[in-house]
Amino acid sequence: MKVLIVGSGGREHAIAVSVAKSSQVDKIYCAPGNAGIAFVAECVDIAAMEFEKLADFAEEKQIDLTIVGMDDPLVGGIVDVFEERGLRVFGPRKNAAIIEGSKAFSKDLMKKYHIPTAAYENFTDADAALKYLETAPMPIVLKADGLALGKGVLICNTLQEAKDGVKTLMLDKQFGDAGNEIVIEEFMTGPEVSVLCYCDGTHIKPMTSAQDHKRAKDGDEGLNTGGMGTFSPSPFYTDEVKKFCEEKVYQPTMDAMKAEGRDFVGILFVGLMLTKDGPKVLEYNARFGDPEAQVVLPRMKNDIIDVVNACIDGKLDEVDLQFEDNAAVCVVLASDGYPEHYEKGKVITGFENFDGKDGYYVFHAGTKKTEKGIVTNGGRVLGVTAKGTNLKEARANAYEATKLISFENKYMRHDIGKAIDEV
Ligand code: AMP
Ligand code: GLY
Repeated sequence: MKVLIVGSGGREHAIAVSVAKSSQVDKIYCAPGNAGIAFVAECVDIAAMEFEKLADFAEEKQIDLTIVGMDDPLVGGIVDVFEERGLRVFGPRKNAAIIEGSKAFSKDLMKKYHIPTAAYENFTDADAALKYLETAPMPIVLKADGLALGKGVLICNTLQEAKDGVKTLMLDKQFGDAGNEIVIEEFMTGPEVSVLCYCDGTHIKPMTSAQDHKRAKDGDEGLNTGGMGTFSPSPFYTDEVKKFCEEKVYQPTMDAMKAEGRDFVGILFVGLMLTKDGPKVLEYNARFGDPEAQVVLPRMKNDIIDVVNACIDGKLDEVDLQFEDNAAVCVVLASDGYPEHYEKGKVITGFENFDGKDGYYVFHAGTKKTEKGIVTNGGRVLGVTAKGTNLKEARANAYEATKLISFENKYMRHDIGKAIDEV
């Protein structure tokens, strides 16, 4: 069969590598893809938001299945366009992807269906938000309603910071229309866990857990980024936490979406905070996490095509989802200066060191093929993933493997997965 993947980051590279492992697949295309994805797929120069062009391409090439990796096209309704044209596609429709596209929607959903989350209020009026803050306890969290590249969340320690935050989001519109509405939310503390789940509209199957490191610098200092590294599984995600989430979060979310007439088919990413009062939902995303996919997918035993097909056909209950009994760590190699100012175009060497190295992966995020070779082309450049029998070993393997890749201005965090030493 022929598969088209939509997206261009490390997540889509991890999806492409998983798809390539399937004996059912003869040909993979990726739009627009990147220099690493080009090793396993034919990259097609169509942007992820060009839905009609993508659908034309899928028709022309007789693509059997399209997998959408990115949030923007899902929230924009790419799945509806493909379905209207009779094309088989994996991902939530627009009316379900709103669970990621609008934080106000997702908070109201959780409140209505009693899914544990931080206390909150939604505001469309800046004056009302400012008035509410006057009597609110600090610290407090402000969230732009819409998509903001993971950067629309402000943790404010003082009333002044919170007031400035309202101005930044709602009046100065730093994230554009994403800030037309904001969520003001109770500040919580505890370890964070990401659980990605396959969903068929009725059934939901959580994958193995993972944890992201969002801040740019060691010790969780510095600015928020798209993610500097991940590990899987999370030792904080005990059997007890898992059972709680299965009963109170995952299935109730599926049922809630169905009750609202928004059947969710695709990947539901549940971001959890394990507070002293129990697990609470921080956020939902409507797709694989990036870089969570880079540690979760390499550990999945099933043929991804079987699982995706079961989701589309409403037969996920028939799938026995299995993960290897090991661990994986992904260290992101970034351009120094990310997420602010950084240089691009630096030649990357050492890819050949990974040839034939079982259990090791170099997922490309921001790279480009040029006459000089493969060069850096973004803030997050590569994700180096290694497996190990346990997290400690996976972590040692991943850091050892980062030495095999060189480029000018290479930057990484040195404490990915270090929290596991404290468990
Ligand atoms: P989100 O995009 O909603 O997951 O938020 C991004 C990050 O902000 C999360 O991964 C948390 O580290 C932090 N965060 C979000 N909401 C809260 C909250 N209510 N309390 C504390 N931290 C939060
Ligand atoms: N790693 C966080 C995300 O994909 O949103």
